[in-house]
Amino acid sequence: MLGNFEYCNPTKLYFGEESLDYLNVELPKYGKNVALVYGGGSIKKNGIYSEVVKILQDNGKDVAEIAGVMPNPTVAKLYEGVEIARKHNVDLLLAVGGGSVCDYAKAVSVSVNCDEDPWNKYFLRSEEPDCEIIPVGCVLTMAGTGSEMNAGAVITNQETKQKRGHVFLSEEIMPKFSVLNPRYTMTLPEYQMVSGIYDIFNHICEQYFSGEDDNTSDYISEGLMRSLLVSSRIACENPQNYEARSNIMWTATWALNTLVDKGKSTDWMVHMLGQAIGGYTNATHGMTLSAVSLPYYRYIMQFGLPKFKRFAMNVWGIDAEEKSDVQVAEEGLAAMEKWMKELGLIMNIAELGVSEEMIEGIADVTVVQQGGYKVLDRDEIVQILRESL
Ligand code: NZQ
Ligand code: ZN
Repeated sequence: MLGNFEYCNPTKLYFGEESLDYLNVELPKYGKNVALVYGGGSIKKNGIYSEVVKILQDNGKDVAEIAGVMPNPTVAKLYEGVEIARKHNVDLLLAVGGGSVCDYAKAVSVSVNCDEDPWNKYFLRSEEPDCEIIPVGCVLTMAGTGSEMNAGAVITNQETKQKRGHVFLSEEIMPKFSVLNPRYTMTLPEYQMVSGIYDIFNHICEQYFSGEDDNTSDYISEGLMRSLLVSSRIACENPQNYEARSNIMWTATWALNTLVDKGKSTDWMVHMLGQAIGGYTNATHGMTLSAVSLPYYRYIMQFGLPKFKRFAMNVWGIDAEEKSDVQVAEEGLAAMEKWMKELGLIMNIAELGVSEEMIEGIADVTVVQQGGYKVLDRDEIVQILRESL
């Protein structure tokens, strides 16, 4: 662990089939006015909405609704939610949904008392809030993003085709509490389930493929990836397997709650490519990552060969005997490709709606990160996007 770091994660988690009961413990800590934030209606179909509303009523809350938060939430929707939250003078934003709803609630939380335009301030200029922040609590219904225990929020500006994330520095933006009931994830369509699984896997990769030192974080990452491989295969075979779904949910949280990047630089280039594609296509987040991953990793492998060899051996169980390092590393990526196809992930960006003519525009809005094994230049970005078509 050669890096210097701080670690603090204040989000309180309630995990398991009885976890929603703990809303009764959390709600009394906040004032009367609550904004219930949710998506396009899945929580009404599967009954979570009525369970949550009953608990809010039992706790005497005055509830306003911010409904219809779409996957890849937009700036226009953010402004709308801020207005509702202001009018209702909210004391708590209760997000019930997937990463989009949780991210969105965080974006509203830092914007309600902000005098400036939140898109410009938080998502273009990446500034920290200098106003009072409304507390956020989450009831998670989809495993993937880690938004339930981190300070990230991703918002899309449909006019400029920019999808921008901001991982806030202050712990104050992390949810105060999150309810994680794996059973809630069982009504997810398979497309969303596998997209979430790949999102989790890629979060770990983004933090694993960097650095040369011997670092405990990398060993934790390998354990998380191995657990995910086992559980994802079981969940694909039988989506109603509680044990597998619970492992996936817990892995998602630890994959992106600031633990496994400790003492490391991080890569995040697959996410930057995925976000740029998302801004153009509004495609499902995890699929934007799966579609570019193999061309990206096959390209950077040469710059971080020892880590790719280690990945092949420790995550995929590749036998290294009598093989060159390159051969071992390639076999690891081939095993990853096989698993991705088994899951039914989208493996090219054409299927997400990207055409050859869009490549230059997507390259223009791709944010280049510095922490991985290779800092990409524009030609390399274009090349990887072309290979992903
Ligand atoms: O809107 P509803 O009707 O609820 O339907 C949602 C949505 O259509 C549905 N869904 C969620 N839970 C369900 C369910 N359907 C049936 N049963 C359930 N239990 O699934 C669809 C996708 O939901 P969404 O919240 O969009 O998915 P996800 O959790 O993957 O979140 C994606 C967003 O998070 C951002 C992404 O960029 C994207 O905007 N990310 C946030 C991160 C963070 N905070 O750190 C990091 C990630 O890398 C990611 O960028
Ligand atoms: Zn992600």
